[in-house]
Amino acid sequence: MSIFDSIGGAPAVSVAVDKFYGRVLSDPQLAHYFYGVSDIDKLKAHQRAFIAAAIGGPDLYRGRDMAAAHAKLGITDPDFDAVVGHLVATLTELEVPNEIIANIGSALAPLRSDIVSVTAP
Ligand code: HEM
Repeated sequence: MSIFDSIGGAPAVSVAVDKFYGRVLSDPQLAHYFYGVSDIDKLKAHQRAFIAAAIGGPDLYRGRDMAAAHAKLGITDPDFDAVVGHLVATLTELEVPNEIIANIGSALAPLRSDIVSVTAP
């Protein structure tokens, strides 16, 4: 059974992403990053990236594109941790097995160096 199936297929993934975005946008540490984004395609791409993560490890390009997409945002390590934390909390709330959540966390971890551009003091 794939991770996608084990968390309940497409309806579960769409509920997970809605809940996840609800958490991110109501977190004062993170909401400001998204207020300024007027390009719906970019937000959709963000959403798809997290869907991909939720269904078993992001099928994501790394490197220049990912770094370029986030470079001007000035994202710190604690911001990255907070976003991943919201994904983990969402999946925990939806009773996704811990082992699967751990796999998702491991799949996202290597993206940190592309996405974080500011070293917190
Ligand atoms: C954890 C792993 C992450 C993944 C896989 C990811 C993935 C992506 C992707 C695929 C895009 C669209 C790029 C484009 O079309 O140009 C994007 C854009 C964006 N991401 Fe992320 N992201 C992550 C973490 C974060 C974090 C931690 C933040 C903020 C705290 C963030 C904020 C944004 C914003 C605001 C945009 C839109 C940028 C723009 O308007 O140009 N992302 N991300």
